[in-house]
Amino acid sequence: MELVEKILGLKRKRNAVILAHNYQTPAVQDIADYVGDSLGLSVQAAGTDAEVIVFCGVRFMAETAKILSPEKTVLLPDERAGCPMADMVTTDQLMALKAKHPEAKVLAYVNTSAQVKAECDLCCTSANAVSMVRDILKDEKEIIFIPDRHLADYVALETGREFIVWNGWCPTHAKILPEDIIREKELHPKAFVIAHPECPREVRSMADEVASTGGMCSYIREKDADEFIVATEVEIIHRLKKENPEKLFYPASRFAVCPNMKYTTLEKILWSLEDMTQEVHVDESVRIRARRSIGRMLSAGERQYGVI
Ligand code: 13P
Ligand code: SF4
Repeated sequence: MELVEKILGLKRKRNAVILAHNYQTPAVQDIADYVGDSLGLSVQAAGTDAEVIVFCGVRFMAETAKILSPEKTVLLPDERAGCPMADMVTTDQLMALKAKHPEAKVLAYVNTSAQVKAECDLCCTSANAVSMVRDILKDEKEIIFIPDRHLADYVALETGREFIVWNGWCPTHAKILPEDIIREKELHPKAFVIAHPECPREVRSMADEVASTGGMCSYIREKDADEFIVATEVEIIHRLKKENPEKLFYPASRFAVCPNMKYTTLEKILWSLEDMTQEVHVDESVRIRARRSIGRMLSAGERQYGVI
Protein backbone atom coordinates (compact mmCIF):
# COMPACT_ATOMS: atom_id res chain seq x y z
CA MET A 1 0.00 0.00 0.00
CA GLU A 2 2.85 2.34 0.86
CA LEU A 3 4.37 1.74 -2.56
CA VAL A 4 1.05 2.42 -4.29
CA GLU A 5 0.54 5.63 -2.27
CA LYS A 6 4.05 6.83 -3.12
CA ILE A 7 3.44 6.22 -6.84
CA LEU A 8 0.09 8.01 -6.75
CA GLY A 9 1.61 10.97 -4.89
CA LEU A 10 4.48 11.30 -7.36
CA LYS A 11 2.13 10.85 -10.27
CA ARG A 12 0.18 13.93 -9.12
CA LYS A 13 3.36 15.91 -8.46
CA ARG A 14 4.78 15.16 -11.93
CA ASN A 15 1.41 15.51 -13.70
CA ALA A 16 1.88 11.99 -15.03
CA VAL A 17 -0.46 9.40 -16.47
CA ILE A 18 0.16 5.65 -16.20
CA LEU A 19 -0.77 3.66 -19.32
CA ALA A 20 -0.64 -0.15 -19.16
CA HIS A 21 -1.05 -2.91 -21.72
CA ASN A 22 -3.50 -5.76 -21.08
CA TYR A 23 -0.53 -8.17 -20.57
CA GLN A 24 0.93 -6.27 -17.60
CA THR A 25 0.93 -7.92 -14.17
CA PRO A 26 -2.23 -7.48 -12.04
CA ALA A 27 -0.46 -5.03 -9.69
CA VAL A 28 0.54 -2.80 -12.61
CA GLN A 29 -2.88 -3.01 -14.29
CA ASP A 30 -4.53 -2.04 -11.01
CA ILE A 31 -2.48 1.13 -10.58
CA ALA A 32 -2.83 2.31 -14.18
CA ASP A 33 -5.07 5.17 -15.31
CA TYR A 34 -5.81 3.25 -18.48
CA VAL A 35 -5.39 -0.41 -19.43
CA GLY A 36 -5.80 -1.36 -23.07
CA ASP A 37 -4.56 -2.73 -26.36
CA SER A 38 -1.98 -1.15 -28.67
CA LEU A 39 -4.56 0.95 -30.48
CA GLY A 40 -6.29 2.18 -27.34
CA LEU A 41 -2.94 3.03 -25.76
CA SER A 42 -1.89 5.07 -28.83
CA VAL A 43 -5.15 6.98 -28.71
CA GLN A 44 -4.67 7.69 -25.00
CA ALA A 45 -1.06 8.79 -25.52
CA ALA A 46 -2.10 11.18 -28.27
CA GLY A 47 -4.97 12.69 -26.29
CA THR A 48 -3.67 13.03 -22.73
CA ASP A 49 -3.10 16.40 -21.02
CA ALA A 50 -0.46 14.93 -18.71
CA GLU A 51 3.15 16.11 -19.06
CA VAL A 52 4.62 12.68 -18.34
CA ILE A 53 3.51 9.30 -19.68
CA VAL A 54 4.68 6.25 -17.73
CA PHE A 55 4.36 3.50 -20.28
CA CYS A 56 3.86 0.02 -18.83
CA GLY A 57 4.22 -2.13 -21.90
CA VAL A 58 7.03 -2.73 -24.37
CA ARG A 59 9.34 -0.35 -26.23
CA PHE A 60 7.48 -0.08 -29.54
CA MET A 61 4.37 1.04 -27.62
CA ALA A 62 6.31 3.67 -25.65
CA GLU A 63 7.96 4.85 -28.89
CA THR A 64 4.54 5.21 -30.48
CA ALA A 65 3.48 7.38 -27.53
CA LYS A 66 6.59 9.56 -28.00
CA ILE A 67 5.99 9.81 -31.75
CA LEU A 68 2.45 11.03 -31.13
CA SER A 69 3.29 13.30 -28.18
CA PRO A 70 6.87 14.56 -28.69
CA GLU A 71 6.45 17.39 -26.16
CA LYS A 72 5.74 14.89 -23.38
CA THR A 73 8.25 12.92 -21.34
CA VAL A 74 7.66 9.23 -22.00
CA LEU A 75 9.13 6.83 -19.45
CA LEU A 76 9.59 3.08 -19.97
CA PRO A 77 10.26 1.85 -16.39
CA ASP A 78 12.57 -0.97 -17.55
CA GLU A 79 14.48 -0.32 -20.75
CA ARG A 80 14.84 -4.06 -21.41
CA ALA A 81 11.13 -4.36 -22.22
CA GLY A 82 11.30 -5.04 -25.96
CA CYS A 83 9.27 -7.12 -28.40
CA PRO A 84 11.08 -10.02 -30.09
CA MET A 85 8.65 -9.86 -33.03
CA ALA A 86 9.38 -6.15 -33.57
CA ASP A 87 13.10 -7.03 -33.61
CA MET A 88 12.54 -9.54 -36.43
CA VAL A 89 12.57 -6.80 -39.09
CA THR A 90 15.23 -4.10 -39.45
CA THR A 91 15.23 -1.01 -41.65
CA ASP A 92 17.94 -2.51 -43.91
CA GLN A 93 15.93 -5.68 -44.44
CA LEU A 94 12.79 -3.69 -45.20
CA MET A 95 14.65 -1.42 -47.65
CA ALA A 96 15.97 -4.50 -49.48
CA LEU A 97 12.43 -5.92 -49.75
CA LYS A 98 11.05 -2.57 -50.94
CA ALA A 99 13.75 -2.42 -53.63
CA LYS A 100 12.43 -5.75 -54.98
CA HIS A 101 8.83 -4.43 -55.00
CA PRO A 102 9.12 -0.71 -55.82
CA GLU A 103 5.37 -0.30 -56.45
CA ALA A 104 4.26 -1.95 -53.22
CA LYS A 105 2.83 -0.06 -50.24
CA VAL A 106 4.14 -1.13 -46.85
CA LEU A 107 1.66 -1.90 -44.07
CA ALA A 108 3.43 -2.20 -40.72
CA TYR A 109 1.97 -3.78 -37.62
CA VAL A 110 2.68 -1.33 -34.76
CA ASN A 111 4.92 -4.07 -33.35
CA THR A 112 7.89 -2.51 -35.22
CA SER A 113 10.63 -0.04 -34.27
CA ALA A 114 10.22 3.70 -34.87
CA GLN A 115 12.93 3.48 -37.58
CA VAL A 116 11.01 0.78 -39.44
CA LYS A 117 7.74 2.74 -39.12
CA ALA A 118 9.50 5.70 -40.73
CA GLU A 119 9.96 3.61 -43.91
CA CYS A 120 6.32 2.45 -44.07
CA ASP A 121 3.19 3.86 -45.66
CA LEU A 122 0.64 2.89 -43.05
CA CYS A 123 0.49 1.29 -39.61
CA CYS A 124 -2.09 -1.06 -38.19
CA THR A 125 -2.77 -2.86 -34.93
CA SER A 126 -4.51 -6.18 -34.55
CA ALA A 127 -7.70 -4.19 -33.84
CA ASN A 128 -7.81 -2.40 -37.20
CA ALA A 129 -5.61 -4.36 -39.65
CA VAL A 130 -8.61 -5.71 -41.59
CA SER A 131 -10.17 -2.27 -42.03
CA MET A 132 -6.79 -0.71 -43.01
CA VAL A 133 -6.56 -3.21 -45.87
CA ARG A 134 -10.25 -3.08 -46.82
CA ASP A 135 -10.71 0.69 -46.58
CA ILE A 136 -7.38 2.48 -46.88
CA LEU A 137 -5.33 0.20 -49.12
CA LYS A 138 -8.20 -1.12 -51.24
CA ASP A 139 -6.85 0.34 -54.50
CA GLU A 140 -3.25 -0.81 -53.97
CA LYS A 141 -2.12 -3.67 -56.17
CA GLU A 142 0.82 -4.79 -54.05
CA ILE A 143 1.06 -4.67 -50.26
CA ILE A 144 4.04 -5.66 -48.15
CA PHE A 145 2.83 -6.74 -44.69
CA ILE A 146 5.40 -6.67 -41.86
CA PRO A 147 6.41 -8.30 -39.54
CA ASP A 148 3.78 -10.81 -38.31
CA ARG A 149 3.06 -13.61 -40.75
CA HIS A 150 0.13 -14.85 -38.66
CA LEU A 151 -1.63 -11.49 -38.52
CA ALA A 152 -0.96 -11.16 -42.27
CA ASP A 153 -2.51 -14.60 -42.84
CA TYR A 154 -5.55 -13.66 -40.74
CA VAL A 155 -6.08 -10.41 -42.67
CA ALA A 156 -5.55 -12.20 -46.00
CA LEU A 157 -8.27 -14.71 -45.13
CA GLU A 158 -10.65 -11.96 -43.95
CA THR A 159 -10.14 -9.68 -46.95
CA GLY A 160 -9.32 -12.09 -49.78
CA ARG A 161 -6.13 -10.09 -50.48
CA GLU A 162 -2.63 -11.48 -51.01
CA PHE A 163 0.37 -9.90 -49.34
CA ILE A 164 4.11 -9.97 -49.62
CA VAL A 165 4.61 -11.32 -46.13
CA TRP A 166 7.53 -10.93 -43.73
CA ASN A 167 8.38 -14.11 -41.83
CA GLY A 168 8.04 -12.73 -38.30
CA TRP A 169 6.01 -14.14 -35.41
CA CYS A 170 5.34 -13.76 -31.73
CA PRO A 171 7.22 -16.30 -29.57
CA THR A 172 4.56 -16.03 -26.85
CA HIS A 173 1.58 -16.81 -29.09
CA ALA A 174 3.62 -19.57 -30.77
CA LYS A 175 3.39 -21.42 -27.44
CA ILE A 176 -0.37 -21.86 -27.85
CA LEU A 177 -0.88 -25.17 -29.68
CA PRO A 178 -3.95 -26.81 -31.26
CA GLU A 179 -3.70 -29.59 -28.66
CA ASP A 180 -4.12 -26.95 -25.93
CA ILE A 181 -7.45 -25.88 -27.42
CA ILE A 182 -8.55 -29.52 -27.79
CA ARG A 183 -7.65 -30.23 -24.14
CA GLU A 184 -9.38 -27.12 -22.79
CA LYS A 185 -12.46 -27.79 -24.94
CA GLU A 186 -12.67 -31.32 -23.51
CA LEU A 187 -12.41 -29.92 -19.99
CA HIS A 188 -14.89 -27.09 -20.64
CA PRO A 189 -17.17 -28.16 -23.50
CA LYS A 190 -19.50 -25.15 -23.15
CA ALA A 191 -16.72 -22.56 -23.25
CA PHE A 192 -16.29 -20.14 -26.17
CA VAL A 193 -12.81 -20.03 -27.66
CA ILE A 194 -11.38 -16.58 -28.34
CA ALA A 195 -7.95 -16.18 -30.00
CA HIS A 196 -5.55 -13.34 -30.81
CA PRO A 197 -4.66 -12.96 -34.52
CA GLU A 198 -0.98 -13.49 -33.62
CA CYS A 199 -1.86 -17.17 -33.04
CA PRO A 200 -1.04 -19.56 -35.89
CA ARG A 201 -3.85 -20.45 -38.31
CA GLU A 202 -4.30 -23.96 -36.80
CA VAL A 203 -5.24 -22.32 -33.48
CA ARG A 204 -7.27 -19.44 -34.96
CA SER A 205 -9.34 -21.87 -37.01
CA MET A 206 -10.47 -23.58 -33.78
CA ALA A 207 -11.66 -20.29 -32.27
CA ASP A 208 -15.22 -18.96 -32.18
CA GLU A 209 -13.86 -15.41 -32.35
CA VAL A 210 -10.54 -13.79 -33.28
CA ALA A 211 -9.81 -10.37 -31.80
CA SER A 212 -7.18 -7.95 -30.50
CA THR A 213 -6.80 -7.88 -26.72
CA GLY A 214 -9.12 -4.86 -26.55
CA GLY A 215 -11.55 -6.60 -28.91
CA MET A 216 -11.51 -9.65 -26.62
CA CYS A 217 -12.51 -7.50 -23.64
CA SER A 218 -15.47 -5.94 -25.43
CA TYR A 219 -16.57 -9.22 -27.05
CA ILE A 220 -16.57 -11.04 -23.69
CA ARG A 221 -18.34 -8.16 -21.93
CA GLU A 222 -21.18 -8.30 -24.45
CA LYS A 223 -21.33 -12.04 -25.11
CA ASP A 224 -24.14 -13.90 -23.40
CA ALA A 225 -21.96 -16.86 -22.34
CA ASP A 226 -20.47 -17.98 -19.02
CA GLU A 227 -17.15 -19.59 -19.95
CA PHE A 228 -14.27 -18.62 -22.23
CA ILE A 229 -11.03 -20.28 -23.31
CA VAL A 230 -8.62 -17.43 -23.92
CA ALA A 231 -5.85 -17.95 -26.51
CA THR A 232 -3.50 -15.09 -25.82
CA GLU A 233 -1.05 -13.95 -23.13
CA VAL A 234 -2.30 -15.20 -19.76
CA GLU A 235 -2.36 -11.91 -17.85
CA ILE A 236 -5.34 -10.51 -19.79
CA ILE A 237 -7.42 -12.85 -17.62
CA HIS A 238 -6.90 -10.51 -14.65
CA ARG A 239 -8.77 -7.74 -16.47
CA LEU A 240 -11.39 -10.14 -17.83
CA LYS A 241 -12.18 -11.46 -14.34
CA LYS A 242 -12.34 -7.95 -12.91
CA GLU A 243 -14.76 -6.78 -15.59
CA ASN A 244 -16.85 -9.99 -15.63
CA PRO A 245 -16.80 -11.45 -12.10
CA GLU A 246 -19.67 -13.81 -12.92
CA LYS A 247 -17.90 -15.41 -15.92
CA LEU A 248 -15.20 -18.11 -15.96
CA PHE A 249 -11.93 -17.88 -17.92
CA TYR A 250 -9.43 -20.58 -18.86
CA PRO A 251 -6.06 -19.69 -20.39
CA ALA A 252 -5.51 -21.80 -23.53
CA SER A 253 -1.90 -22.34 -22.41
CA ARG A 254 -0.21 -21.41 -19.15
CA PHE A 255 3.04 -21.16 -21.13
CA ALA A 256 1.78 -18.14 -23.07
CA VAL A 257 3.64 -15.57 -20.98
CA CYS A 258 5.41 -12.59 -22.55
CA PRO A 259 8.55 -12.11 -20.40
CA ASN A 260 9.08 -8.60 -21.76
CA MET A 261 5.72 -7.49 -20.40
CA LYS A 262 6.81 -8.60 -16.92
CA TYR A 263 9.86 -6.35 -16.64
CA THR A 264 7.64 -3.53 -15.39
CA THR A 265 6.97 -3.68 -11.65
CA LEU A 266 5.54 -1.23 -9.12
CA GLU A 267 9.04 -0.58 -7.75
CA LYS A 268 10.36 0.31 -11.20
CA ILE A 269 7.38 2.59 -11.85
CA LEU A 270 8.20 4.40 -8.61
CA TRP A 271 11.93 4.70 -9.39
CA SER A 272 11.17 5.86 -12.86
CA LEU A 273 8.89 8.63 -11.55
CA GLU A 274 11.31 9.56 -8.77
CA ASP A 275 14.33 9.98 -11.03
CA MET A 276 12.56 10.57 -14.36
CA THR A 277 14.70 7.79 -15.78
CA GLN A 278 14.44 5.40 -18.73
CA GLU A 279 13.12 8.20 -20.90
CA VAL A 280 12.24 7.16 -24.46
CA HIS A 281 13.78 9.25 -27.25
CA VAL A 282 13.01 9.11 -30.96
CA ASP A 283 15.20 10.98 -33.42
CA GLU A 284 13.16 13.91 -34.84
CA SER A 285 13.65 13.01 -38.52
CA VAL A 286 12.54 9.43 -37.78
CA ARG A 287 9.65 10.69 -35.65
CA ILE A 288 8.22 12.93 -38.37
CA ARG A 289 8.20 10.12 -40.93
CA ALA A 290 6.90 7.50 -38.48
CA ARG A 291 4.16 9.95 -37.38
CA ARG A 292 2.75 9.92 -40.91
CA SER A 293 2.15 6.17 -40.99
CA ILE A 294 0.70 6.13 -37.46
CA GLY A 295 -1.33 9.30 -38.14
CA ARG A 296 -2.94 7.76 -41.23
CA MET A 297 -4.03 4.80 -39.12
CA LEU A 298 -5.45 6.98 -36.34
CA SER A 299 -7.29 9.36 -38.67
CA ALA A 300 -8.93 6.37 -40.32
CA GLY A 301 -10.21 5.28 -36.90
CA GLU A 302 -11.26 8.78 -35.86
CA ARG A 303 -14.95 8.16 -35.96
CA GLN A 304 -14.60 4.94 -33.94
CA TYR A 305 -12.48 6.46 -31.15
CA GLY A 306 -13.49 10.12 -31.32
CA VAL A 307 -9.98 11.58 -31.02
CA ILE A 308 -7.34 12.94 -33.40
P1 13P B 1 -2.99 -5.91 -28.93
O1 13P B 1 -2.88 -4.65 -29.72
O2 13P B 1 -4.08 -6.82 -29.39
O3 13P B 1 -3.06 -5.61 -27.48
O4 13P B 1 -1.66 -6.77 -29.19
C1 13P B 1 -0.40 -6.30 -28.84
C2 13P B 1 0.55 -7.39 -28.72
O5 13P B 1 1.73 -7.19 -28.63
C3 13P B 1 0.02 -8.72 -28.71
O6 13P B 1 1.02 -9.62 -28.58
FE1 SF4 C 1 5.76 -8.87 -28.70
FE2 SF4 C 1 4.47 -11.20 -28.52
FE3 SF4 C 1 5.16 -9.91 -26.30
FE4 SF4 C 1 3.20 -8.98 -27.87
S1 SF4 C 1 3.21 -10.88 -26.69
S2 SF4 C 1 4.86 -7.78 -26.95
S3 SF4 C 1 4.01 -9.52 -29.90
S4 SF4 C 1 6.56 -10.78 -27.84
